[in-house]
Amino acid sequence: TAGGTDAAKRRAGERAAEEVDNGDVVGLGTGSTTAYAIDAIGEAVSDGLEVQGIPTSFQSRQRALEASIPLTDLDAVETVDLAIDGADQVVDDPDASGYGALIKGGGAAHTREKLVDAAAERFVVVADPSKLADRLERSVPVEVIPDAHTVVADRVQDLGGEPTLRDAEHKDGPIVTDNGNLVLDCAFGPISDPNELATQLSRIPGVLEHGLFVDCADVTYVGLEEGVETRVY
Ligand code: A5P
Repeated sequence: TAGGTDAAKRRAGERAAEEVDNGDVVGLGTGSTTAYAIDAIGEAVSDGLEVQGIPTSFQSRQRALEASIPLTDLDAVETVDLAIDGADQVVDDPDASGYGALIKGGGAAHTREKLVDAAAERFVVVADPSKLADRLERSVPVEVIPDAHTVVADRVQDLGGEPTLRDAEHKDGPIVTDNGNLVLDCAFGPISDPNELATQLSRIPGVLEHGLFVDCADVTYVGLEEGVETRVY
């Protein structure tokens, strides 16, 4: 997604990859920042590190295959030791409700990302400064079963949101997720209580998963032009 320099993203991704230990099962997130972590893990694998990766999307699976990281599945492992994933926005005000909460799903991969990130013993977020915000205010991606998009859109409006069906760039019609579903991007303005909104969205029939990740992240590495800042939650 837009924003942030490649150098900053690379620093964050490479810092996160340093957390991977021999024998770990690692959740491999989606997006341009995590891609640097995947590449760094791949280099460590070629130097003899033994890991198994669990991709969170078609994109991260392709990247992991290119990096020669051995892959496995959620239902084939007992533990996911850590997951590394990017974010579209991160609450960076320690006094705010939901410090460390995320909006994800800019790449429409948030359902599988949430599954893997939440299953991990430790969830490491990689970001650049363009992602940091006092309050979440980007649109919240909501993956919906195709038949349900109009009724879910009505319910989102009841909650004060403005839903837009995400269109595909190089196709007539909406984007279709890795799971065969549609995405409503729901604008709520600044979100004062991410936890409450997450609960309300999850209750809507037809919603498969939304992009609010609350009480999920353990640490965020913020890549800078020089160095990396750490937020621990
Ligand atoms: C994918 O659906 C998103 O949740 C990504 O993790 C998010 O868009 C981060 O991508 P970048 O690292 O490219 O900004």
